Amino acid sequence: MSDGNPVTASDLVQLDPDHPGFRDAAYRARRNAIARVAMEFREGDAVPAVEYTEDEQSVWRTVWQHLDGLHAKYACQAYRECADLVSLDRERIPQLAEVNKVLRRTTGFTMKPVAGLVSDRTFLGHLGRGIFLATQYIRHASRPLYTPEPDVVHELVGHAATFCHPEFARLNRLFGKAADVADDERLSRIARLYWYTLEFGACREGRDVKVVGAGLLSSFGELGRFETACELRAFDPDAIASTKYDPTDYQKTLFVADSFAELCGRTAQYLSG
Ligand SMILES: [Fe+2]
Repeated sequence: MSDGNPVTASDLVQLDPDHPGFRDAAYRARRNAIARVAMEFREGDAVPAVEYTEDEQSVWRTVWQHLDGLHAKYACQAYRECADLVSLDRERIPQLAEVNKVLRRTTGFTMKPVAGLVSDRTFLGHLGRGIFLATQYIRHASRPLYTPEPDVVHELVGHAATFCHPEFARLNRLFGKAADVADDERLSRIARLYWYTLEFGACREGRDVKVVGAGLLSSFGELGRFETACELRAFDPDAIASTKYDPTDYQKTLFVADSFAELCGRTAQYLSG
């Protein structure tokens, strides 16, 4: 343990020293409590509800105050269509169980709780069975515009709506099925393709570049700057599969498909190859 590190033996959740909540004991206790609920979840259990505090609800509202306008400008049409279906509450954080009712009626996807990051093989493998492993804690209040790790904002704002859309849902399942039979080397390539499509993908609609990926759609800091700050490369699954990424910082490179259909079609083709 390094000097000044507030990690205790009972910490379920390890935070990096540069995490905005690293020195916030109350935040760390909250993270541990929510992680414990997820770890106690068993297949077949009802998806547990989290009672969010007023401070956490405030972070959610702050995010939406910035995101609604950016989504109107940058979200791809497919996302905007299914976001209307899910219709996430802007005032209070929806529970996974509430969202699951909508997903069940549309594509049959289910969001289930997870304590934190899991391996690519576990995460992608669940997608093949129509299960999305979702965190339930929220980012630290001091930095609402961006999170280096998935949180409930990312899962709900970025991913939940997409599971109502048949094409998004199909692509998620294809990732899972491809991951299930991949050796480690191919799994790394598939994980990069997932990153640069369903997390950080973009496509053209007419002359505009629109956002497909959950990582961008849930980060108002990044969504407001990607057009000018990122290198925008032509969409090419082979190139993507060999392009490494840094999950802990704003992205420097994005791949832009000529259309949403091209992004889905060529990704599906790569996954079935
Ligand atoms: Fe994600």
